[in-house]
Amino acid sequence: MRRQDGKLYFGYCDIHRTVKALAESIRESGFEPDLTVAIGTGGFIPARILKTFLRKPILTVGIRYYDENNTPMPQPKTVQWIDEVERKLAAKRVLLVDEVDDSRSTLAYCLRELLRHRPAEIAVAVLHNKRKPKRDQLPPEVTRYYCGEEVDDAWICYPWDAVDIDTHERLANTVPEHR
Ligand code: G4P
Ligand code: MG
Repeated sequence: MRRQDGKLYFGYCDIHRTVKALAESIRESGFEPDLTVAIGTGGFIPARILKTFLRKPILTVGIRYYDENNTPMPQPKTVQWIDEVERKLAAKRVLLVDEVDDSRSTLAYCLRELLRHRPAEIAVAVLHNKRKPKRDQLPPEVTRYYCGEEVDDAWICYPWDAVDIDTHERLANTVPEHR
């Protein structure tokens, strides 16, 4: 990871290592999910990498909280939801995966929706948690929260958003010169 122009740049290898550490802390805590639910779209790639370590199936939900002008909407919108959720989640241990815990609104909204389908338990895993006051809180039923890395409240540039991946990886990986 590298800080540049007030932003945080993470390369693909940074992400992969963070997911591996996340999988290890999940395993060490004794939580064994039956399945993961990835929050799209930011949670898709982290969830897929997590599958390399946890070997559990992935379901996906699509939530949009920022509109096309990149301003937050009054509340998150469901873009796509799991079919037959009740059958798929009932009595299951679920791991909800997203890339970043920012305002916490999307996570809290998703958790409340998923809890309606009576899973045995839902835990949350995020790559990055921003240290900042949150706009919403996790429901009290959610007691397991796994975070790969705590970061300052700055904009994070993820490799999958890069139009020019070579420049992105250079920005993420170049060690600043010390003179
Ligand atoms: P939270 O519950 O996870 O805290 O999320 P919140 O509602 O605050 O906002 C979520 C949206 O904002 C997500 O995008 C998330 O990816 C994006 N976001 C927040 N901070 C950052 C950041 O530092 N860097 C990047 N790249 N994205 C950030 P979304 O609108 O749900 O769409 P998508 O990008 O997941 O498809
Ligand atoms: Mg997201």
